[in-house]
Amino acid sequence: MATLMNKRALVLGGSRGIGAAIVERLASDGAATTFTYNRSAENAMDLASRTNAKAVQADSSDRVAISQVIAEQGALDILVINAGLLVMGNPLEINPEDVDRMIDVNVRGPYHAAVDGARQMNEGGRIVIIGSVNGDRMPFAGGSAYALTKSAIQGMVRGLARDFGDRGITVNSVQPGPVNTDMNPADGPMKDAMHSFMAIKRHAEPAEIAGMVAYLVGPETSIVTGAQHTIDGGFGA
Ligand SMILES: NC(=O)c1ccc[n+]([C@@H]2O[C@H](COP(=O)([O-])OP(=O)(O)OC[C@H]3O[C@@H](n4cnc5c(N)ncnc54)[C@H](OP(=O)(O)O)[C@@H]3O)[C@@H](O)[C@H]2O)c1
Repeated sequence: MATLMNKRALVLGGSRGIGAAIVERLASDGAATTFTYNRSAENAMDLASRTNAKAVQADSSDRVAISQVIAEQGALDILVINAGLLVMGNPLEINPEDVDRMIDVNVRGPYHAAVDGARQMNEGGRIVIIGSVNGDRMPFAGGSAYALTKSAIQGMVRGLARDFGDRGITVNSVQPGPVNTDMNPADGPMKDAMHSFMAIKRHAEPAEIAGMVAYLVGPETSIVTGAQHTIDGGFGA
């Protein structure tokens, strides 16, 4: 169904995994879609040719570059901020530079992108940031830095929803549990530990997360804002 006909969408971090599924879904729902990629040029070109979406190279930690990509879109209806990194390990041992890079991509980038996106968004625009159930629950060691980045998104969403509500712009996060991507393959070494925390013991597929995003940017959710939408097989229950 072309529920997003005549809408202009931008997905930050769309070359692989959840982001690529979001690009596919928004494009097939009728939105004129642009997405960014950082390192995966080949995936990005392939996705662009399959979906008719436009691919642009831009590092989500580069505030000026992302600001320029957003400015080039003109009046936006939908902004999905998906780009994210996962750095796990003993905090006493992991490289602090890697942690800082993750904070840049997962927190600093999304905040500035959401603000820049809202600056030129049409009335009734939609901003969705991909968080994680780990913003609510981090049930194993080694995930403190990642969890802090995803908890930060929760505060960002609550505050920005109030900042932009008078223009009818909604701001929400989608909080996946384990999803089968390069970041967290369904047959990876952590799978049994992760499934042990879940009511439905399987990884989600990226298209299932894209479905939640499509709902939040679609015609039925103009009153849904400032909220975290968890899709996690009960990981956080
Ligand atoms: N998979 C899970 O279990 C899971 C669970 C909860 C939340 N999440 C969240 O969902 C989001 C997507 O995760 P995923 O599993 O799809 O990860 P993924 O398979 O590793 O893909 C990450 C995507 O983000 C892009 N990206 C990363 N750093 C970037 C940067 N600096 N600039 C621009 N793009 C960048 C990558 O682009 P390039 O390859 O082009 O660099 C790629 O398209 C992340 O925010 C992640 O934290 C994932």
